[in-house]
Amino acid sequence: MKGLKDRVALVTGGARGIGKAIALRLAAEGANIAVSDIDINGAEQTALEIQKTLARESMAIKADVSISEVANRMVRETIEKFGRVDILVNNAGITRDNLLIRMGEAEWEAVISVNLTGTFNCTKAVARQMMKNRYGRVINIASVIGIVGNAGQSNYSASKAGIIGLTKSVAKELAPRGITVNAVAPGYVETEMTKALPEAVRKGFLNLIPLGRAATPEDVAAVVAFLASDDASYITGQVINIDGGMVM
Ligand SMILES: NC(=O)c1ccc[n+]([C@@H]2O[C@H](COP(=O)([O-])OP(=O)(O)OC[C@H]3O[C@@H](n4cnc5c(N)ncnc54)[C@H](O)[C@@H]3O)[C@@H](O)[C@H]2O)c1
Repeated sequence: MKGLKDRVALVTGGARGIGKAIALRLAAEGANIAVSDIDINGAEQTALEIQKTLARESMAIKADVSISEVANRMVRETIEKFGRVDILVNNAGITRDNLLIRMGEAEWEAVISVNLTGTFNCTKAVARQMMKNRYGRVINIASVIGIVGNAGQSNYSASKAGIIGLTKSVAKELAPRGITVNAVAPGYVETEMTKALPEAVRKGFLNLIPLGRAATPEDVAAVVAFLASDDASYITGQVINIDGGMVM
């Protein structure tokens, strides 16, 4: 893909699942990668794999994206090592599913703070230096659940819908400085997150997918790499569904 060689990408939640696949794919396209996660062992594994199998530079950073000072430190450490951040992928995310009438404030707060406030914190932390460099790519991992909703996921759905609104507003603010801001909305992706779902719910999702299979983390990583590349330089403020046709 054009324009990814020697770019510096920061991927949150890069210890496993979709974030790990994104970190590996961006590295395979020639970028150097800061892998951040609350799971430092997992982040180190991803960083090591990048160095060993893809011969790109990488670093692991322990960071909880829901805390703004921690997000600022994460960006500072990346800039200290690589000189700048060209690409930010806001991927860290959690679920705490429950029906509305049973949902405690803690479950609501946890999901909003990691998914939505985390995306805000990290984007704000990179924005100034991207504006100075007059270059940047921000790619947010939303979800089709943020578009169509889902019983039992009011917190998650609200956080992902919030990410979509945040994406569009920040895209408008940063466009004059040559920074694009987009979101992808995966449907059902097989990762640790969805392994936790009951078998019946997983089967139910599969029945809704015209292409007849779940997404792989690599399906998501491919679209993120495209949005990070020069081929996508005229795309901003968009949400691209990666869902096998689940939502049309
Ligand atoms: N799996 C799916 O079907 C699916 C569908 C749509 C969207 N998504 C989104 O994709 C993203 C990745 O999901 P996944 O399926 O790979 O999940 P996952 O649970 O396998 O991975 C999430 C990663 O985020 C990290 N993380 C959690 N809280 C964090 C925090 N506060 N700060 C930093 N890192 C934190 C975890 O340690 C983990 O490594 C999430 O934003 C999720 O909402 C997933």
